[in-house]
Amino acid sequence: MGVDLATSGIESKLTVNIVGGAGRMGKLLAKSMRNRVGALRIISRSPERGKEAAKELDVEWAPIEEAHKADVVIVSVPMDETVDACRNMAGRMSQGSLLVDLTSVKTGIVDAVSASTPANIEYLSLHPLFGPNVENVAGRRIIAIKARPGPKTEDFIDLLESCGCIVKVSTVEEHDEAMASIQVLHHFALLSLSKAIGRVVAGRNLSEYLTESFERTLINIESIERNLETIYKIQRMNPHGETVRRIFIDEANKLNSLDFNINNLNICLRNLIKALKPKS
Ligand SMILES: NC(=O)c1ccc[n+]([C@@H]2O[C@H](COP(=O)([O-])OP(=O)(O)OC[C@H]3O[C@@H](n4cnc5c(N)ncnc54)[C@H](OP(=O)(O)O)[C@@H]3O)[C@@H](O)[C@H]2O)c1
Repeated sequence: MGVDLATSGIESKLTVNIVGGAGRMGKLLAKSMRNRVGALRIISRSPERGKEAAKELDVEWAPIEEAHKADVVIVSVPMDETVDACRNMAGRMSQGSLLVDLTSVKTGIVDAVSASTPANIEYLSLHPLFGPNVENVAGRRIIAIKARPGPKTEDFIDLLESCGCIVKVSTVEEHDEAMASIQVLHHFALLSLSKAIGRVVAGRNLSEYLTESFERTLINIESIERNLETIYKIQRMNPHGETVRRIFIDEANKLNSLDFNINNLNICLRNLIKALKPKS
């Protein structure tokens, strides 16, 4: 029987399978989309993990052999497993269906997946600019690279927007260049800070000395700690990683001389804030 979209509260007829749906990002997407699509299934290689996640999210689960049977297959597996997982999936998907990945680095992945998937399968490469610890996706930014666009791609982007996501369309090059600053440098700075403080503090408890500013930094360090494997892969796989890390070290060395002009530094900070702060 067809779904009556007008009365069901469902906003899309798309059927969606999430490979790696029992993982962190997979669960978050499932939770955000489950009431807005025709059907949503968690795909897991393990019946135990699949059933447990499906029960928690109140959706169905299916084994990996069934993963290709949907309008949209989201591959939410570790970054370095993504190309193989997409390749295995796409060959079995039906004509006109949509393959989606979520990787945080695009160079070496989008081209490889595009080259190894049939031309009659659409392919959309997403990067959610948030981690699995957020409550839901509403108001959160997602980068979208329309690697092989078509009608399902547009329907799926509409679905993301109906979940409250802010979707920005980009390219592989533009994405990785931007992320070299926003992720690679940001994570590297926090890791360097953590290592340096760990060395200076050497096990002493300074918790009663925390400033409010440091408490905010600590929240970011905690989030990095929970995601260390992905963060390491972003450092390694972003093609600009080494260059921007060298610039960071160079700037740290220059600052270390303390021979800087406060006015110039002030202008630099103000320009950065102006360039990066979202317009309200
Ligand atoms: N974590 C973040 O902050 C974040 C943010 C933005 C984007 N992303 C991207 O989101 C994707 C998933 O990351 P995550 O943090 O959710 O990872 P995760 O928690 O490790 O979950 C990945 C899931 O993939 C499944 N899996 C692993 N290898 C597989 C393979 N070879 N074939 C099929 N399934 C496999 C596993 O599920 P089963 O064992 O149950 O099959 C696992 O639970 C990555 O591409 C990552 O770059 C992550």
